[in-house]
Amino acid sequence: MSIVLDGQPGVEHRLNVSFDRIADRYDDTRSLPGDIMEQVIDALEMLVDSRKPILDVGVGTARFARPLQARGQEIVGIDISTRMLHKARAKGTEDLMLANVCQLPFADNAFGVAMSVHVLHLIADWRRALSEIARVTTERYVSVASYREDSPAEDMRRYYEAKCEELGHAVKHPGLRERELRDLLRADLVSMVAVHEEVIDVRARIEGFEKRTYSSQWPVPEEIHRQAVEALRARYEGTEHLLERESIYLLAWKTARLKEFLKGIGVK
Ligand SMILES: C[S@@+](CC[C@H](N)C(=O)[O-])C[C@H]1O[C@@H](n2cnc3c(N)ncnc32)[C@H](O)[C@@H]1O
Repeated sequence: MSIVLDGQPGVEHRLNVSFDRIADRYDDTRSLPGDIMEQVIDALEMLVDSRKPILDVGVGTARFARPLQARGQEIVGIDISTRMLHKARAKGTEDLMLANVCQLPFADNAFGVAMSVHVLHLIADWRRALSEIARVTTERYVSVASYREDSPAEDMRRYYEAKCEELGHAVKHPGLRERELRDLLRADLVSMVAVHEEVIDVRARIEGFEKRTYSSQWPVPEEIHRQAVEALRARYEGTEHLLERESIYLLAWKTARLKEFLKGIGVK
């Protein structure tokens, strides 16, 4: 399949959360260490293996698609962010397309497996996204989910968000996190793959918050953002390092069950 980075005619991108603004910094702020990534890709490869091609929706910089392609998997990546797709292409990723998961430009049953990683939470119409995923796949839908509930570093995010809320802006995502789908539809597979622990530099992390590194921060009004960052600096004054702990899970749902679920909630 050829690489298509031109706009998909008729696709409405304006209402979506594109990652164009963070493309240059995305890999530096979201990467996993090589050995952990290797474990995740090993497990993911077994789960996505199919006779048909694999679809990665919201492929981004091809964090997962590129290593899977390098192992010989036939994987097509779509995204609404041209700049993220260019980053993916610069790594040698093939079969990339500018497209919206809510209007996939593919025939029914074109893929065996579809995956999305940290994407559904960005999409207000996540039901439509899942319905499109179910339409184009025959076997299953897969995600890689991170759980940071017991991570001391995560308290910084909670503190920033609580401050924003106190100042009048509730930080929330428009969609549903992939892992939250488990609350609505039992997953067919839940498998813990790795625990990533890292000591982080508190000052650098606060600078990351200041630069609005995380998509949930993008809608925060400037004055509220400024005050929340100031409060974060005051709260963590004297703390140089914190432990970040992330448990990484693979999740999978059979396409047939996803279709039943969507039918049950009235999505065609
Ligand atoms: C947090 S990044 C995740 C990228 C990649 N899956 C990863 O884990 O590194 C979310 C990606 O989803 C893309 N995205 C957001 N809404 C989308 C939509 N409606 N259709 C396709 N991609 C979308 C963004 O542009 C961004 O590249």
